[in-house]
Amino acid sequence: MAKLGVNIDHVATLRQARLGTEPDPVWAAVEAELGGADLITVHLREDRRHIQDRDVELLRQTVQVPLNLEMAALKEIVAIALRIKPAMATLVPEKRTEVTTEGGLDVAANTPALSAAVGKLSAVGIMCSAFIDADLRQVHAAKQAGFGICELHTGPYALAAAGAQRDKELERVRAAGEEILNSGMQLNAGHGLNYTNVQAIARLPHLSELHIGHAIVSRGIFIGLREAVARMKIAISSMG
Ligand code: PXP
Repeated sequence: MAKLGVNIDHVATLRQARLGTEPDPVWAAVEAELGGADLITVHLREDRRHIQDRDVELLRQTVQVPLNLEMAALKEIVAIALRIKPAMATLVPEKRTEVTTEGGLDVAANTPALSAAVGKLSAVGIMCSAFIDADLRQVHAAKQAGFGICELHTGPYALAAAGAQRDKELERVRAAGEEILNSGMQLNAGHGLNYTNVQAIARLPHLSELHIGHAIVSRGIFIGLREAVARMKIAISSMG
């Protein structure tokens, strides 16, 4: 069964709505771990719209499972990652105007810069994952840039209308996943997944990790984060 990485950015989004101290993402990480999270994920954005530097520092000290830092390959953020040393860095594109990470990283168009960032992060023992669209050209570029892991963007699958359109998106994810594995990289997936659409993705052969945030934090408001994580683990294991 694929591991579950729980993205707790939206707990920080709620805190930042009042620029106060609660709810604290550090508490959220504890609850997520108690619910069975296999990894904790946070995205330290350049604009610091949700997760703050202090959160990453404290999470690195307190989280018991591997910490996955989502980040853009920016000089300032790479320097923070090199200092804090999360277990894993997932490199994502970042646009100031986006509501959430919109598309995958264009590794093919930025191979030298990404390769340099991967080299620095890998040198201190951080595993590097590329968040990419289900596109074979991007898979090959990720391999060339030195990534050991690719996280396939499941947003288009999640947004597709049920039926032929969704089947087509699922097939794209499956084919790209096969290429990732054939290239010797680890296969992860995430974005837009929820309790009812996760099963088809969880069935992908040799999938290592699923990274899920919004659906879990949303359900956590009503049933508690610990329970919301536990139920997502059940959804993943049931695989429809
Ligand atoms: N994976 C990556 C790389 C992301 O940027 C995000 C969103 O922060 C997720 C997974 C989780 O997406 P969602 O919040 O839609 O579950």
